[in-house]
Amino acid sequence: MTLDNTTLLDACRRKQPAHTPVWFMRQAGRYMPSYKQLKGNLQITELAKNSELASEVAIDAVNRLGVDACILFADIMLPLEGLGFNFKIEENVGPVMQKPICTLDDVKALKEFDAERDMGYISDTIELTLQKLEDSVPLIGFSGAPFTLASYMIDGIVNKDLVKTKQLMYGQPETWQLLMEKLTKMVQEYLCFQVKHGVHAIQLFDSWAGCLSCEDYNQFVSKYTHTIFASIPKVPKIHFCADSGALIEQFQKAGADVLSVDWRVPLEDVWRRCREQVAVQGNMDPAAALAGGEFMKRKTKHVLEAARPYCGHIFSLGHGVLKETAPENLQWITEKVHNLTSSRR
Ligand code: CP3
Repeated sequence: MTLDNTTLLDACRRKQPAHTPVWFMRQAGRYMPSYKQLKGNLQITELAKNSELASEVAIDAVNRLGVDACILFADIMLPLEGLGFNFKIEENVGPVMQKPICTLDDVKALKEFDAERDMGYISDTIELTLQKLEDSVPLIGFSGAPFTLASYMIDGIVNKDLVKTKQLMYGQPETWQLLMEKLTKMVQEYLCFQVKHGVHAIQLFDSWAGCLSCEDYNQFVSKYTHTIFASIPKVPKIHFCADSGALIEQFQKAGADVLSVDWRVPLEDVWRRCREQVAVQGNMDPAAALAGGEFMKRKTKHVLEAARPYCGHIFSLGHGVLKETAPENLQWITEKVHNLTSSRR
């Protein structure tokens, strides 16, 4: 099996791609009319468990936008069901836990995760998505990182300050350690399972780790993420974190091939601080894609200019596509990036 478009994999490996690859986090989502139609009245978790529909929404986004990668349609919360942990994903709110983790006994009560048993619908979705892609572009698998998953399990709901998470992390070290060990094992197994079923690259979402100081990241998070990356065979590994400017060196040490950063940190700083030993994904503000018009056009060129001297750039937004974004804006960005960067060769 050979892929027609290897630009994403080339950029991940810091090989010169035919053009700068583009894809968007949440490229399959509510901003897209066809997504809303396919989703109908289903909950996001129901949609993700319906492999036929899940593969369809993933492919639809690729076809509509002309991007260089497909992302598996799922959600970071889903494998937690395998631990016997219950939650809902509420529209416009995000994940809400039925009974957040508070004590060591809560962590001890979590069940053993088994990817083959608990995530059968994910291997089906991977298989169907790969079939429908017909080797056109790579498929990116993903998982939430232990810290970000733990933050939902403990805080109970999206909460930017993560006060309860930090309170437990600082005040109950034994509980924190056991929870991170269990999540690390789950994420390792889940990602290896996705690789086994054929994804071409993986992205680890540590969306909320940017709320930590370097010192805390090193003490409470780093070793777990490192263990995960070290155990993934073969495929390129992308590490995403919002607001990661203070943590760039720590992120590099975690061992991914690509650091995915947001608009708060200049791209050139990331390459410089990592001595150009990583590929970089990002970093246009999703609000610029939402705003469209001249501002978006200038920003697109600005991001490309910032990346131009370096090897291994994947054009993306700094975080997920915002709900009201016009699909035409993302289409415009994709075409522009392709045109401007293929003519440079
Ligand atoms: O194209 C893709 O990227 C789709 C696959 C995908 C989803 N969630 C589907 C989804 C991916 C990669 C995710 C990851 C995810 N989920 C993250 C990490 C990325 C990030 O944003 O930092 C996080 C933190 C979650 C948890 C979660 N799930 C949130 C915060 C929300 C948004 C709530 C809302 O309604 O705004 C969800 C729901 C969700 N997951 C949606 C989608 C398309 C939107 C809800 C819907 O369509 O009903």
